[in-house]
Order: sequence, then C-alpha cells, then structure tokens
Amino acid sequence: MTSSVVELFETMAWGPAPEAAEPALAWLDQHGRQFGHFVGGAWRPGAEQFLNVLNPANRQPLAQVAQGTPDDVEAAVAAARGAFGDWSRTPGHVRARYLYALARQVQKHARLFAVLESLDNGKPIRESRDLDVPLVARHFAYHAGWAQLMADELPGYAPLGVVGQIIPWNFPLLMLAWKVAPALAMGNTVVLKPAEFTPLTALLFAEIVQRIGVPAGVFNLVTGDGRTGAALVAHPDVDKIAFTGSTDVGREIRQATAGTEKRLSLELGGKSPFVVFDDADLDGAVEGLVDAIWFNQGQVCCAGSRLLVAESIEAHFLDKVRRRMQTLRVGDPLDKAIDIGAIVAPSQLERITRLVTAGQAAGAEVWQPDAACPVDGWFYPPTLITNVGPASELAQVEIFGPVLVSMPFRTPGEAVALANNTRYGLAASVWTQDIDQALDVARGLQAGTVWLNSTNLFDASCGFGGYRESGYGREGGREGLYEYVRHLPVSPSVSLPAPSRDGRDAQMPELVPPIDRTPKLYIGGKQARPDSGYSRLVYAADGQTVLGEVGDGNRKDVRNAVEAARTALAGWTASTGYNRAQILYYLAENLSARLDEFAGRTSAAEVEASIERLFVFAAYADKFEGQVHAPPLRGAALAVPEPIGLVGVACPTAQPLLGLVALVAPLIAMGNTVVAIPSEADPLSATDLYQVLDTSDVPAGVVNIVTGARDPLAQVLAEHDDVDGLWYVGTADGRRRVEHASAGNLKRTWTHLDERFDPLALPAEETLRQAVHTKNIWLPWGA
Ligand code: NAI
Repeated sequence: MTSSVVELFETMAWGPAPEAAEPALAWLDQHGRQFGHFVGGAWRPGAEQFLNVLNPANRQPLAQVAQGTPDDVEAAVAAARGAFGDWSRTPGHVRARYLYALARQVQKHARLFAVLESLDNGKPIRESRDLDVPLVARHFAYHAGWAQLMADELPGYAPLGVVGQIIPWNFPLLMLAWKVAPALAMGNTVVLKPAEFTPLTALLFAEIVQRIGVPAGVFNLVTGDGRTGAALVAHPDVDKIAFTGSTDVGREIRQATAGTEKRLSLELGGKSPFVVFDDADLDGAVEGLVDAIWFNQGQVCCAGSRLLVAESIEAHFLDKVRRRMQTLRVGDPLDKAIDIGAIVAPSQLERITRLVTAGQAAGAEVWQPDAACPVDGWFYPPTLITNVGPASELAQVEIFGPVLVSMPFRTPGEAVALANNTRYGLAASVWTQDIDQALDVARGLQAGTVWLNSTNLFDASCGFGGYRESGYGREGGREGLYEYVRHLPVSPSVSLPAPSRDGRDAQMPELVPPIDRTPKLYIGGKQARPDSGYSRLVYAADGQTVLGEVGDGNRKDVRNAVEAARTALAGWTASTGYNRAQILYYLAENLSARLDEFAGRTSAAEVEASIERLFVFAAYADKFEGQVHAPPLRGAALAVPEPIGLVGVACPTAQPLLGLVALVAPLIAMGNTVVAIPSEADPLSATDLYQVLDTSDVPAGVVNIVTGARDPLAQVLAEHDDVDGLWYVGTADGRRRVEHASAGNLKRTWTHLDERFDPLALPAEETLRQAVHTKNIWLPWGA
C-alpha cells in the first residue's frame, strides 16, 4: 500500500520498517542449518536425534539442533572437569581478558545476535537490539572487572568447580550472559543447556568462544529439551546447578538434587504487582505499565502482570490504559515499528488462551484493542482483565503472556497485602510521588526487586532474584558472585577440647543424682508441656547414667512453635539492628554469669566460645549492611539485606550449646525468628538456656526450642509451608529428606553433615549471608 506524504501526515501511521533477516539466515546456511553440541572446544559430531527450531512469527523451520543424550552430557561435564584445574588457577587478569573479549565480540556482532534472537524467539527487534544484546555485553564487561578484582575483593573464596546452567527461552542470550559471565569470572567451568525453543544465539556465542580461544572445556554447550536438562542435573560430577525457568521444574530440580551437596540457585516464576497510588504521575505510570506487561509479549518472569490501582483513580487510569493499548502494534518481530512480537511456541499460546478463556467463563471481563493480530505465526493481542478476585486463577497463576489483570485497592496497607497475596516474590513496581510512601511500601513488599516509579530496569551491577516460590540466589552485582564461590574453611578463633561428653571439664562437679526438674519445651516465651505427654531420658556418654529428662516434642509442638515464631516475626524484623545487638550482648552477659552451671553441662571452653559467638553476631547485627549499586541511570539501586523470615534449625549433636548458639545467634541478629531442635543426644544445655532467654529481653516467640528426635521434627519443619528456611545439621539421609521436602514451598535450605560440622569453623560472613536475602530497590531520580 502506498500513501501520499499528505495522507501520512494526516493519519500519522507508521509504515513498516523491516530489519533484514538475510545475514542471520546466511549464518544458519553456513552451518547447513544443523548444529551439534559444543564440547571441549569443538563441535561434537554424530548426533542421532535433532529438534526443529521454528520461527514463531511464521512457523517456518530455521534450523535443527541435536537432542542431547546422557552421553553428550557426560562428555561435556568431563570436558568441563578437565578444564577446571587450569582455569581456576588462571590469574584473574587473564580471565578478565577473556571476558572482556567476549563483551567486545558481542558488541561487534551485535546486529547478528539481535536478528537471530528475534527470529528465534519472536521478540521485537527493537528489544533484542536495544536491550538484550547491549545488556549481554555489559554483563561480560562488568564481570571482566570482577575476574580482575576477585583476589583482592573476595579473599578466602574459591570457585565451585563444574557448573551446570539451564536457561529458558524468554531471554535466551541474556540469560546465558547472566549465568556464564559470573561463573567464568569466578574461575568455574560451565556446561550450559539453552531452552529447546531458542538455542540459536547460544550456538553463535559458542562459535565466538571458540574464535577468541577460550581454553577448551571452559565453556560447553549441550542442546536439547528437558530430558537433557534433567541429565545435567543428575550428573554426579556437577558442583552446582543454576536454573531459570518455571517454578514446577525448579521444584523438580530441588528434589533431584536433594542430599547431593550440589549448590543450587533457582530463578523461577512470578506474578509481580504494579502498584499505582492516586498521587502517581499517571502518564508515566501508563508508559511504565506498557513496559511492565507488554515487553517481550509479557513472557518475562518479573512482568508486572497484576495491576493494583487506587480505587479513587481506577476508572480514569484504566481509561488511559485502554487508550494506550489501542496504539500498540502487534506484528512481525523484525519490523522496527512494532511493539509486540510473536509468542514463542504454540504450547505457550495455547496456555495463555486457555487461562484467559477459563477466567472469562468464571466472570472476568476481558478487553482487547481492535487491531487484528497477524495470522501467519503465533500471536496474542494485548489484553486487560478486570472484575477478578484476588484469589482467582487469573490473579494467582503466572500467565506468561501479554495479559494484564487489574484490581483496585483502598489504602496503602491494603495495597501491600494484595501485592503480597501470592506465592511468588520476584519483583514489584510502585508508582507514587510521595517518597515516604514509596520507600515504606518498598520495604513491605515481599519481592527481590522493587522499582520505584520505574519498571523492568536491569543491570549487571544489581542483584536479581526471588523471595518465596520465585526461588533463591541472586544474579548480578556483588551478591551474585557468591553463587559461584565457596568460602575456604577458616581457622577457629578458639580451640575446644574434643567434643565428648566424657571429656567434660576437670572442674565439673561430680555427677549427682538429678534433681527432678524436667524442662518442658520453650514456645512463645513460655515453657510448654509436650503434646505427646512423653519425656525422653538424657544419658551421659557412658550410655547408662541418666543426666536428666526433656520433653519429647512432636508434630503438634512444632506447629505451635511455628505459630509463635510467625507471630513474633513482624515485630522482630521491624526492630533495629542496634536493638537486636543489645539483646545478643545481654544474652552473652547472662550466659557468662552462669558460666559454671553451663560448664557443668558441657565445658567452660564451650561456654566461652558460645559467648564469643554471641559477641560476634551482636557486633554484626548493625553492621551487616547492604550496598548502594551504581547502575548506569540517574539514580541508584539500594541493595538491602532482609531476613528470610521464619527459619527452622536442627542443631548438631556435639557441642550442644555452641552448636545452637552459632546457628541461632546469626539468624536472630538478622531479624529472623527461629524454631530450634537442639542436640538430640545432649539437649540439656539448650533447655538450661530457657532461663537465659527469659532474662535477656528476647521477645516471646523469637527463639523457640522443641526437644525430641531430630529427624522427625526436622521433617515437620521441612514440610511446613509457613517455614521460610531450614538449617539442618545431621545425617546424609536426613539431609536428603529435608532438602527434598523443602521443595514444597521452595524454602531455602543450608545443610551440613554432623560429623563434619564445626561451629567455630563457619565463616561468620557466610553464615550471615545465609540468614538474609537481598532486596534491590531501584530509585531513579530527576524531575
Ligand atoms: P521450563 O521450566 O520447562 O523450561 C526452562 C528450561 O528448563 C528449559 O531449558 C527446559 O529444557 C529445561 N527443563 C525442563 N524440564 C527440565 C527438567 N526436568 N530438568 C532440567 N531442566 C528442565 O519452562 P517452559 O515449559 O518452557 O515454560 C512453562 C512455563 O514456565 C511458562 O508458561 C512460564 O509460566 C514459566 N517460565 C518462566 C520463566 C522465567 O523466567 N521465570 C522462563 C520460562 C518459563
């Protein structure tokens, strides 16, 4: 259709502005449109089965990639293992040069990467060209810096080894960069599995790795579907799995890795709120919303898919949104003038359609603009849904498409409650001109990233990751580096006598027949009789002498303790670090006052070491601070450590007092509340602690202690959906069980084997990092 200049001025319509596909298609032709895996620095021949890769905008085949078998995974892991020793010892400066070269290569081939990405994924070329690819280059350049600085900035840390990385199809190259750059910077070697729908830019990346001479085996690529991913997860010689994708698969991976000692980071789904207050800049908020939910067709883990809008402006705001939606253009991803491209695959289109249709049948009002979608490929129009309840499927389930669900709220408190009313916690966007309200709401939201008067801001310098069922671990920023390193053991600051109950202090009074004083459980600041009505005898190391009796806790007691810890959580989290420090010092003081009594239970050295731990974590309570990141924008991102919430702790058998203190003190220092199961064999110093807790101003419910059989009680904690984290010290089997059970609500676990556990060798900084997760609050400024 041709139009005269006059007509164009009248309609102000955009003409097509297509980007040429030919260079990318020519690159595919050079490879015969068929690819093997990239293993040990070379392309692996002989694949038996191939997967078709289709262009979602026209359903045409683009290429075929090999379906990775367990043998392919084996070869890739062996190559990565073979390369690990040299790569981990390669000076940081040399690793930095490789990463810098990768950044430069991505920049030099930016257009080829962008076109290939849009062909493969269906995302608008404007996005792949202006967002994905520049951010990929930024990620490699930023992490070149960390490779250079690792020795100075992370002393005492070492790489993990071979890292298995599994990525989704929504940001194929960007997710590769988020995973590969920090792993290589920290001296690990990698086996990457891209998503089956979108493997092409990863293959081009492998070619670049080969071209710049990254040592063979440092980066390996195995293509294939979920079966290939599962083989990588199951491989015994992989030290860590980093996964981004659906919560269901994340949960499967948590179960598959339970008890294996593999480190795990999971970046999963979301249902992120986009909160608009009545004093917001509404035009800005509308543009923000377009970016939040129609960017990448809404196939974004942190998409602002739930609009929460102040009731007083709801009608006016939705009017503006509808008007803006009328101008959104759905079309060929390679057209530079379109806003919304194609949905990645028919299965995804079917999922979106099914969820919207079911919601409509349940009474939701569905609104879509008039403009038609192309019919050649898989497209879905921008969609606004109103008249839904907060508990409805549309308001709770991740749709992963261009579908916005809107709900009103009345007060800021209601906005926060509605925003948090989901099992996810990935991101949130808050729009208000009132800075106090903005920051207050940001702190109240359960989300790993909060954007103030902005949305979908990403940068290599800022951590990204979830709370709750959105997963754990961070990518980007200094916080992301810790996912790819381990702390080397520290030398204990004091040494203890061998942890044997025979080896008690020389000054310990001779054992006298116990006075009949049976401690109960400690729940909500009170001693509570065990529900079972049973007590357990506690024996000396000779297995004969009865030292005392403790309550035999059961499932019901754990539930009561969880309830008490939950009730105490809001107040304790809101208390200041200074206040928590005071209480920890007071605990130390009161323990010290009863040193002789506790020494009689364990040893004077153990009590002194416990006092020292209390001092360490009291010291850190107001010093384990966040960071202010400096992403390239007018503004900053505040990286704030926040408590995980309610954490269960199964304590080590030996050193019963120190083991308990070394785990509980850092948790409460950071604002968590705790349900602890003390040493099963030797719980009496824990029960003696009740009185110390009572006299040290520890608020009721912050520390709860349930004595009894460790593994059954730990299992109840692991299965409990109101427990946010679990620290377990015990057997290999117990560890496997609790890690497996923790997949239910994806609680974060930190587990150790009893026989290898030394509370004094735990690095304090590492322990504190396990006790928090980081929220990044993005704060742009400027009028
Ligand atoms: P998915 O979670 O199945 O796929 C992500 C990656 O995991 C792919 O590379 C896939 O091959 C691999 N995978 C699948 N099963 C595996 C297993 N058992 N073990 C190891 N790796 C495995 O996501 P899918 O099916 O492509 O999309 C389904 C839904 O997941 C979407 O509708 C969306 O709601 C959500 N999703 C969320 C993403 C996010 O970034 N949070 C990304 C992709 C999907």
